Amino acid sequence: MLISAILASRRPPGSLFRFVCAACFVAGLLAARPAAGAGLPPEFTPGELWLDTGGHPINAHGGGLLYQAGVYYWYGEFKTGRTYLPDCNKSWGGTRVDTVGVSCYSSTNLLNWKNEGIVLPAVPGDPQHDLFPGKVLERPKVLYNRTTQQFVMWMHVDTTDYAAARCGVAVSPRPAGPYKYLGSFRPNADAWPEDATAADKTPAAKNCLARDFHSGQMARDLTVFQDDDGQAYLFYSSEENPTMHVTLLTEDYLHATGKYRRIFQGRSMEAPAVFKHAGRYYLIASGCTAWAPNAARSAVADHPLGPWTELGNPCLGADSDKTFHSQSTFVLPIAGRPGAFIFMADRWNQWNLPDSRYLWLPLEFSAAGHPRLSWRDHWPLSALPGS
Ligand code: GAL
Repeated sequence: MLISAILASRRPPGSLFRFVCAACFVAGLLAARPAAGAGLPPEFTPGELWLDTGGHPINAHGGGLLYQAGVYYWYGEFKTGRTYLPDCNKSWGGTRVDTVGVSCYSSTNLLNWKNEGIVLPAVPGDPQHDLFPGKVLERPKVLYNRTTQQFVMWMHVDTTDYAAARCGVAVSPRPAGPYKYLGSFRPNADAWPEDATAADKTPAAKNCLARDFHSGQMARDLTVFQDDDGQAYLFYSSEENPTMHVTLLTEDYLHATGKYRRIFQGRSMEAPAVFKHAGRYYLIASGCTAWAPNAARSAVADHPLGPWTELGNPCLGADSDKTFHSQSTFVLPIAGRPGAFIFMADRWNQWNLPDSRYLWLPLEFSAAGHPRLSWRDHWPLSALPGS
């Protein structure tokens, strides 16, 4: 409207000119913000419906990205069908849809995504299987292991009531799968964290660490992070959620090593996203309020195993106390552009989970080097450093 008004004040009379101006304006709008169905967005439009190259909504929630040989792969929870609230989750509003599997999309420009299908499908017909549709499969993340030349997927698998709290692992020789499910476990059985105190090792009411010493530690929301030296780390919400653990993975990335630390003790953080910038390690996470958004947290460390120092809420401006109505899932470093990162989050729709949306925002750094996130209605990749 503003541009039309400016044009109106300067244009010479004539209906043809008016028509051309209007046409140019509409064309400009279309170029900046594609109509639904166009499928070729030139910009990110956080929170809006995002279509794949086939014209269907991208369905990859709680996702993570992998960059491999010039292609980005986006893995996530494929959510479809009826959203329902199981009786066992009524006290905390834990709605769900039946598990279908892990979806994968590929892209070379991060805007146009081709559906690669379900790369790890659910296993109907076997109620004992981790991937039975009535159970939970969340937050899949994939790393490439250069030594084994395998793509390794980590995910949170759980019973409907989230009591099992386990990690699942799957592998494939190809980024777009299919992935072979290897099974699940609770990490770090029979191992104390490096920073455990005598009190931590003493069984007591509410001491979940000691309670779960032999069975392995609870693992709910999780992510994996691969360092430049090839070492990989698993971050998971543990001890019923109040405390996060970070553990070194084995060289093949298939297991936890037993080398781990307790981080953000008592801070109840989940949905972790970890990245490295200028030699330091950063983490963005949420608080624990199920599907409801809360204020994001950020933290920095000189080593993935910590110690981690909290840096507060990275979001600025309106709705920063709710992470712009979303929850973190991943931070993507842009290949070949040092300092360029995209913050990825889910805007959950608790009562219609398949209609949950994605919110990708440029991640910036303050003068003090703290991660910063500001709302944008739309933004191009060129807004990131190094374009
Ligand atoms: C969130 C968690 C999601 C999902 C949800 C279930 O806190 O981050 O991954 O588990 O709870 O309500």
